[in-house]
Amino acid sequence: MKKSILFLMLTASIQSAALFAQNEIKMQNNPDGAEIFESKGCTFCHDTTMERIAPSLQNIATIYQNNEDALVSFLKGERSAIVYPQSASTMQPQLMKIKSLYEDEIRALARYIIQSN
Ligand code: HEC
Repeated sequence: MKKSILFLMLTASIQSAALFAQNEIKMQNNPDGAEIFESKGCTFCHDTTMERIAPSLQNIATIYQNNEDALVSFLKGERSAIVYPQSASTMQPQLMKIKSLYEDEIRALARYIIQSN
């Protein structure tokens, strides 16, 4: 009886350790694009569906659909604007806010925008 309780306690603690490790990996390798979009203040100008100061995420998503790599390049400042190039001077300085992001964070951001459609 005692042995089986000990065994149960042991498996429970192994399981929670494994779960903890999983969460750690998730935090490092699975950045949340939506969370980045909000925390970097992008929602100040961009709405999901409404065209306000800036194009809606849906509009951007339609244009960049199937072209995640191009959107990643834009976000890294390596490609010019194609949605509203005439308003690029408003958007360009915003790219400074995401300059320090890791590659996988920028990709998560691009994926979040494209999936808004
Ligand atoms: C001050 C308002 C403002 C903020 C804040 C802002 N944007 Fe923009 N964004 C714009 C405007 C205006 C455009 C239209 C010009 C253009 O197409 O680049 C735009 C366009 C874009 C585009 C389309 C690019 C293209 O090819 O034309 C993307 C993607 C984008 N923004 C992402 C972001 C992200 C990510 C953030 C947060 C880091 C952000 N924006 C913050 C105003 C803003």
